[in-house]
Amino acid sequence: MTDAELVLEARRVRDRAHAPYSRFQVGAAVLDASGRVYSGCNVENASYGVTICAERAALCRAVAEGASEIVAVAVIADTAGPVRPCGACRQFLVELAPKARVVMANLAGEVDVATAEELLPKRFRM
Ligand code: THU
Repeated sequence: MTDAELVLEARRVRDRAHAPYSRFQVGAAVLDASGRVYSGCNVENASYGVTICAERAALCRAVAEGASEIVAVAVIADTAGPVRPCGACRQFLVELAPKARVVMANLAGEVDVATAEELLPKRFRM
């Protein structure tokens, strides 16, 4: 699967975002080495702090469904320039998919790629 196809998956699931508070919809799609895709969107809550980001939703789904090695993660939102994963999502990405290509996109078609390790150097570890 190409980066463009993975971004398209993320774009599709973004439409399912539950974002009544921020109105900011995010979609993410995780690709594993077997070619399977696990998608997720942000899910907000009236108790704002328990909101789940799209990237973490997709990664949790991948784990629960028995994904093999994660090779790429696409994320998309309606931002000026490619959307950037938040700090919490970077911590999740780097632990579950340190070498994965993180494909950051926006609705205008702008794309940037970095590894999870590049996005979060000097990360927390136990
Ligand atoms: N959000 C994500 O889904 N991913 C990120 O990396 C940053 C933020 C969501 C959370 C919230 O629903 C909305 O975007 C605004 O912060």
